[in-house]
Parts: sequence; structure tokens; C-alpha cells
Amino acid sequence: MEPIYKRIVLKVSGEALSGEDKFGLNNDIIHNICKNIKKAHDLGIEIAIVVGGGNFFRGRTSKGMDRATADYMGMLATVMNALCLQDALEELGMQVRVQSAIEMREIAEPYIRRKAIRHLEKGRIVIFAAGSGNPFFSTDTAAALRAAEIEAEAIVSAKNVDGVYDKDPAKHLDAKRYDELSYLDILDKGLKVIDSTAASLCMDNNIPILIFAIDPPENIVNVLLGEKIGTIIK
Ligand code: GTP
Repeated sequence: MEPIYKRIVLKVSGEALSGEDKFGLNNDIIHNICKNIKKAHDLGIEIAIVVGGGNFFRGRTSKGMDRATADYMGMLATVMNALCLQDALEELGMQVRVQSAIEMREIAEPYIRRKAIRHLEKGRIVIFAAGSGNPFFSTDTAAALRAAEIEAEAIVSAKNVDGVYDKDPAKHLDAKRYDELSYLDILDKGLKVIDSTAASLCMDNNIPILIFAIDPPENIVNVLLGEKIGTIIK
């Protein structure tokens, strides 16, 4: 089967890496996710990864802290996740480069757009760490920004929920899942599944966002083979 995209940004939520534990890193789950990233890569797809940090620290919801400081702490959390994914993917024999939006040369390459594209062309996975490097922006926005920069055809967003709902499915039994939404729907309906900055950046650059559950991790491959899972925003 042929994949529907040649180059993507895969957004992995930090929380997804912790599994049931809801904090930290769950090795079995990470291994399983990485096996499926490898399968997707074996289909010939160039994959850049943007990872969140919510399994360690969430800037947005940290009470009583200066917002910018909390956001920087969140960015540092994404660096830990990026290194963890690099390690797990390399364990499977893949070539992986981590590029950080905040310079920490001893740990990762600095973000250099043209170098990232070169890595992808050479068949390497590139993991973008530290979000966009700026407070007040989410890792979803970082994914949208990087996708536009590297001319990715889509953002494939693996989350702890299986798509976009009209209301919180954890609180409302009658919540309905959307199969398809427009970028403007996200903004108009105030849907919180991605933030408005990410939605408008994707709208301006015509980048579809596919949102689906990371469990089971096989979803990553299936979605890239065109199976209709979760919600597509376009
Ligand atoms: P090409 O030579 O373009 O094929 O890419 P390459 O990544 O194999 O070569 P490079 O010499 O740039 O990098 C070799 C290794 O050093 C890779 O694992 C890079 O991720 C790593 N590396 C490169 N630049 C930096 C840096 O500034 N900081 C850190 N920590 N590692 C780096």
C-alpha cells in the first residue's frame, strides 16, 4: 500500500509517552510507538517529530507561576522526551537527529532549517525539541511552524483522545466526534483540541492536521495509509 504523504510532521503528545502512569516515561509504550514510527518510515515517508512535554511539566496549567518561566520549563521537558525518542528509535536501528529550538549544543544540534531538510532527505528522522523556543506558544504551534518551514504535507497528531469532539467526551456521554472540520470551525467553535495560533498557521499554509488516538500505536501507520481514523482538519 502507498502512503498518502511523502513528508510529515508527527506530533506526539508528551502525555502519550507516559501511558497509564500519566507521568514520566513508559518504556513499553515508547517502544511500541517507535516501532510504528519505523514502520511508517519504512513506507518511504520522511518524518519529522515534534514532541510535547506534558508528561513532565505543563506550562499552561501551572498555577501561580510566571507564564513565560513555566513555558520555558515546558520546553525543557520536551527536550527530555526528544532524547528519549531518539534513543528508542536508534535502538530500532534508525538514524535520528535532535534539533533544539533553544541552543544546548552539548545535548542536541541547534535548529537549522536547511540542515533539518537535508537530514530528512538522507532518510533520517528529525526530532524538533524545545517547541518553537518561545514562551506563549504551544508545541502544536511549533508543529505547525516547523511543518510550514520544512514544507511538510500534513501534521499527523497522535493524542490521548481519538479525535475532535463537540464537547469534552470525558465529561459528556453524548459528545459527538467530528470526522472532518475546517480550520475556521476550530476558531469559531472555540474547540480546544489545538490552539488557535496553530490552527491559523495551518490555515494560512494549507497544512491539514490529522488528529487520532495514539492507542493503539498502529494508528500512526494506518492513518498514513489513508485509513479514516479520528478527525481531519483542513
Ligand atoms: P551530514 O554530515 O550532513 O550527513 O550530517 P550528520 O548529522 O551525520 O553530520 P554532523 O557532522 O553534522 O553530525 C554528526 C553527529 O553530531 C550527529 O549525531 C549530530 O546530531 C551531532 N551534532 C551535530 N551538530 C551538533 C551540535 O551542535 N551539538 C550536538 N550536541 N550534536 C551535534
